[in-house]
Formats: sequence, C-alpha cells, structure tokens
Amino acid sequence: MAYEHILVETRGNVGLITLNRPKALNALCAGLIEDLGNALDEMEANDEIGAIVLTGSEKAFAAGADIKEMKDKEYIDVYMENFITKGWEHVTTCRKPVVAAVAGYALGGGCEMAMMCDFILAADTAKFGQPEITIGTIAGAGGTQRLPRYVGKSKAMEMNLTGRIMEADEAERSGLVSRIIPADDLIDEAITTAQKIANMSRPVAMAAKEAVNRAFETTLKEGILFERRTFHATFALEDRKEGMEAFAAKRQPQFKNR
Ligand code: CAA
Repeated sequence: MAYEHILVETRGNVGLITLNRPKALNALCAGLIEDLGNALDEMEANDEIGAIVLTGSEKAFAAGADIKEMKDKEYIDVYMENFITKGWEHVTTCRKPVVAAVAGYALGGGCEMAMMCDFILAADTAKFGQPEITIGTIAGAGGTQRLPRYVGKSKAMEMNLTGRIMEADEAERSGLVSRIIPADDLIDEAITTAQKIANMSRPVAMAAKEAVNRAFETTLKEGILFERRTFHATFALEDRKEGMEAFAAKRQPQFKNR
C-alpha cells in the first residue's frame, strides 16, 4: 500500500513504521492516523513479522495532534465526529508487540501515541509532555489516564496542569520509558530489541503482552488469575515443550509459533 505520511519497511522479522511529516514535526493529522492504522493492519496480517517498531524523526516522534487541522472546529463538530477516536487507539489493538522508539519531541498526542505502544525506548534527546493546557484544551488521547499509570499522580498532574516538558533522564527515572539510548543508536537498538521479541514463540509473546496489559485493566486478584490460566495455556503449545526441552538439553530452542 502507498502511504503519504509514514514510511514503512521490514527489517528481518520486524516491521518498522516511521512517522514522516517532517515539516509539521509529525503532527498527527487525520491522514497520518489513517496511514498508521493501515500499516499496522498490514503488519499484523504479515506472518513474516513478529514485532513492530514505531518511530519518528530525530527532531520529533510527534509534536501532537495537528493543531492547525483542529483549530477551527466547534464543539458540535468534535462531538459528532467523535474526534480523536477513529483510528487513534489502533495501536492498542495490535496483538503483536509494538515498541515506540522516541527521539526529540513526543508532545500531546505524540506522547499519548508513544504510551499506547507496549514500551518506550527513548533517545537521550527525547522530550515528553502534555502541553495541551497551554493551547486552551486538555489531553484527548489518554494523557490524563495513561500518564498517571506510567509515572504516578503527582508528576502526571503537574505535567497536565503546567505543560512542563520532561527530558529523557526524568522519563526513565519515573518509569515512562524502559531505557535511554544514544540518539544515533536508537533505531538499531529498537530493531535489535524488537527482533529479540520476534524470535520468541509468537503465541507466547502475544500471551505475555496480553497478561501485562491485563494489569492495567483489572484487579490484582483477577489479573493474577488471568496470568495463571494463560501460563497453564502455554502448556498446550509445542513451543513451550521445545523451550523447556532445549533448556534441559543445553541447546537453543527452535520455535515454530505453534
Ligand atoms: N500541529 C500542527 N503543526 C505543528 C504542531 C502541531 N501539534 N507542532 C509543530 N507544528 C508545526 C509548526 O506550526 C511549524 O510549522 P510552520 O513551519 O509551517 O510554521 C513546524 O511544525 C515546526 O514547528 P516549530 O516552528 O514550532 O518548531 P520549534 O522547534 O520552534 O518548536 C515545538 C517545537 C516546541 C514542538 C512546537 O512546535 C510546539 O509547541 N508544538 C505544539 C505542541 C503541542 O501543543 N502539542 C499538543 C497538540 S494538541 C493534542 O495533541 C491533543 C491530544 O491530546 C490528542
């Protein structure tokens, strides 16, 4: 499929999606969101791909929803079209793991999009924030909900109330990102990390993702039960048998995704 606002490539068993509106710092316009959804669908359907990396440019992962596209909308428009809904949460419905590789600005919808991925690898240049309040609105794609789950109430509240930008060091300290990587190495390291995931048994990686995500959707008791039953379910897989037999035989496992 041809895309206008993103670049799409495959590196081994990893799909790489690069947001590509450089003149607008990858502002998330409707066309970009549509492109992204289509690319994610293609990668989900492609058996060669086991994990996905979502990235932007050196200067910006994404500087938010497209302010110029939305500035003239009225309440009735955004309510009736359910603005920031169609396509926006697409990444959260992917069953294959999705890694966000963030360099430069991840602001507003950009920060929210990164948080929708399964984890965030940050370049040392990464800057995160929910500056919507500075333009007279509030976060609309999860910034008041996912950010507190990542960094706790105090920091999330301060960021949403002041629009303060958080640099990479603080983002790592507070748990928003899993690791900081020198900017020049970000894509290679993200691909290597995603390849590591893609080389695992695919159904097991998908199950692990589902189980971790359950931690944010339910009580601890229900989450533990979900994990336990999913763990039991892996015993129905050839790959679980292969993994344990390979360990005992001191060899590398050959997973068949079955
Ligand atoms: N929407 C539309 N265009 C944007 C944009 C956005 N979110 N962010 C940047 N741009 C455009 C600028 O208008 C500019 O275009 P022109 O060259 O045509 O003037 C171009 O990208 C480069 O931007 P700057 O000149 O501003 O670059 P800078 O380096 O001086 O500043 C920045 C960078 C601090 C990120 C600044 O661009 C900025 O503050 N951007 C807006 C950030 C923001 O408020 N994001 C929240 C959006 S609302 C939202 O996301 C709602 C939601 O929750 C879903």
